[in-house]
Parts: sequence; C-alpha cells; structure tokens
Amino acid sequence: MPSPSDRIKEIVPSKSLEIALKVLKLREEGHDVIGLHVGEADFDTPSTIIKSTQKALSENKTKYDLVQGNLELRQSIAQRFNYLNQGSITPQNIILGNGSKHILYNIFQSLLNPGDEVIIPRPYWVTFPESVKLAGGVPRFVAPSKGFQLDLDGIREAVGPKTKALVINSPNNPSGVIYPPHILSQLLTLAKEHDFMIISDEAYEGFIYDGERPFSLYSLDKKALNNTITVQSFSKTFSMTGFRIGYAIASNSWVTHLKNLGGHQVGNICTFAQYGALEALSLSEGEMRPYVHELQERRDLAFNLFSSLFDCYKPQGGFCLFPNISKYIEEGRFTSSQSMALEILEKAHVAVLPGEAFGLPEHLRLSFTPSKDDIKNAFQKIKDFL
Ligand SMILES: Cc1ncc(COP(=O)(O)O)c(C=O)c1O
Repeated sequence: MPSPSDRIKEIVPSKSLEIALKVLKLREEGHDVIGLHVGEADFDTPSTIIKSTQKALSENKTKYDLVQGNLELRQSIAQRFNYLNQGSITPQNIILGNGSKHILYNIFQSLLNPGDEVIIPRPYWVTFPESVKLAGGVPRFVAPSKGFQLDLDGIREAVGPKTKALVINSPNNPSGVIYPPHILSQLLTLAKEHDFMIISDEAYEGFIYDGERPFSLYSLDKKALNNTITVQSFSKTFSMTGFRIGYAIASNSWVTHLKNLGGHQVGNICTFAQYGALEALSLSEGEMRPYVHELQERRDLAFNLFSSLFDCYKPQGGFCLFPNISKYIEEGRFTSSQSMALEILEKAHVAVLPGEAFGLPEHLRLSFTPSKDDIKNAFQKIKDFL
C-alpha cells in the first residue's frame, strides 16, 4: 500500500473524537457515561428551521447552488451582522462553507505559503494548529496572560517576517473568555502595522452571558477588512451543528480567493440546508433568549459545583469550564491532564477533555451543555472518584 502524504501523517487526531469513541465503547458495554466532552447543546433545532428545510426539500431545492452561497441567505446574514455591529457589509463580503471548520481550513489554504507563520494564542481550539499545518503553515503559540486573556507583549514578540496571520477565538473555546475591545483594538493596530490577517473565530457569538451583547472584531474598525476575516456559524447559535453552515466575512477580494478555491473543492454547500439557515435568521432575539438563559443557568450550576474541586474561571460565554488541575498533578495523583481525563472516564464514567488538546496541559475541559441533572450527577461522580 502506498504511504500517506507527510501532511496527513502529521495531523494530530482530534482528542474529542478519540474520547467520543471510548465513550461509545463504554456505553456499548452497558456503562452509563455522562458526556461533558461534547461541543454542542442538547437543545433540539427550533421546529420552524426544520419545517423550512423540509419545505425546501419538498420544493425540490436539491440542485447545485452558488459557490458563494444563496444570495437571499447572504443578504439576511449581512442584515443581522450589520444590525449587531452597526456595520455596512454587503452579501459580496460573505461566503458560506460547510461549517466554520471548513471555512477556517479554506482561509488558511488561501492565505499561507509553506513556512508562513500563524500566531495562535493559548488556549486554542484543537483544530487551529492542524488546519494551519495542513496549509503548510507553522503555528507559533503564545502563552496567555492572567485569566486566559491575550498577552499583547507576547504576541508582539511572536510577530516576525514570516507572520501571515493571528487566530483569535472569542468567546473562547475552551476558556469561555471574551477578549475586551481595548485589547482587540491594539491587535488591529499591530496587524495593520505588520500587514498580517487577524482571523476572528466567533462561533460562540450567540452564547454570551450576564446580559452582555455580542460584538464582532469587525465592529471595532470597520475599515480594517483588509486585515480581518471574521468567521461565524449557525452551528451553536441556532442549534444547527448537523446542518454544517458557517460563513466568512471578508473583503471582496478575499471572498473571491475563497470562491476560487471552493469552486474546485465542494462547489456549493447543501442547497436545502441553506433554507433552514434563512429561517433561523428570521427568529427574533426574544425567541433565542431562552436557549442562552438555559445555558447561563447550566454555566452557573457547573461553575458553583466544580469550583469546590478545582480552581475555576467563570466563563463569560461559550460552552465550557476550563479548570486548573495542577494541584492534583503536584500531589502525584495523576501524571498529566491526559491521564486524569482517562481515569475519570474509565473509573467515574464521566467524559471530559484533557487541557493538552487546547495547549494548556494543566487544565481539563468540562462542557456544561448537558442537562442540569447530568451536570449534577457528573459532579458527584467526579467528586467521589477524586
Ligand atoms: C471555536 C470553534 N470554532 C469553530 C467550531 C466549528 O463549528 P462548525 O464547524 O460547526 O461551524 C467549533 C466547534 O466546536 C469551535 O469550538
């Protein structure tokens, strides 16, 4: 058999998928496993979204579509985005992809030459480094400052002649931190000075707690489109993970690069799923608020419980707690967060993810998206185990 490419050999398999397989095996063996490793809420997709998708299917909206995505849907995305960010983007600034994961992959493919560097602040979403490497790029990791915030000095030091981009993710997976506007503005200045691209992954913009409003990096400098690409998604905001619809907001010329790539890659994204997304955008903020409210309650519950076991930061958004577990490692109870996560899964039957996967090995990632009962039971099981 021929050997796979060096690119493929270098991919670090997704830790969450690895744990998910172990969970499946334990469940097949009859164990009751609680999954705090998942990256999606247990909410059903709103029924009107399902109905509109079904209607599109019954009307035979099943053919090829535009590479850039359905125009009406892009108009609607532009309208929502401009409303939330007092912006003036047009449908020409938007390109759709099969989830934001796909969009990010294409952005790196369109941006990087072999050896180009991409700055990735820790903690980061697992896919960023792998996606950069698949495009021939080199990730340059930067440690966080206190409370998982961006360390501007560290980022400045990491900028060099090969720097092509910086990826940020706010609200952050795994930490739940939101980066404040004054720090982001300084990053924008740096990006313009050194002419690199800031890729702003805003997949969790729909889940921001304590009454705070979502804001995009774009809103801080609407003229910075030459140095920013914003990535958002329907997955989390509208409980549509399986629809696979994400999008990039970029300059017209960058959308053209992405369109040229997409034209030879997937063509368009699923035609009828886009009608579900169009329906999602007709839901009012009030209709989506109960989902955010429920997750905020789950965050509070998880934070209050797990703070008695670990040193926890209270997430401002997103789906996860990212507690520090170094005291358990210093006490010699576990050798790493990897071994701790494995033991918690095998002995307490609760699935959590090791911080190694997110670039901070002294942490665990616990998702608070399962039901409140599951969160309480998971806490009890982990407490008993520890
Ligand atoms: C930070 C971040 N970005 C992007 C994604 C991908 O979302 P999707 O491809 O479903 O849009 C995820 C999913 O977990 C994520 O956590």
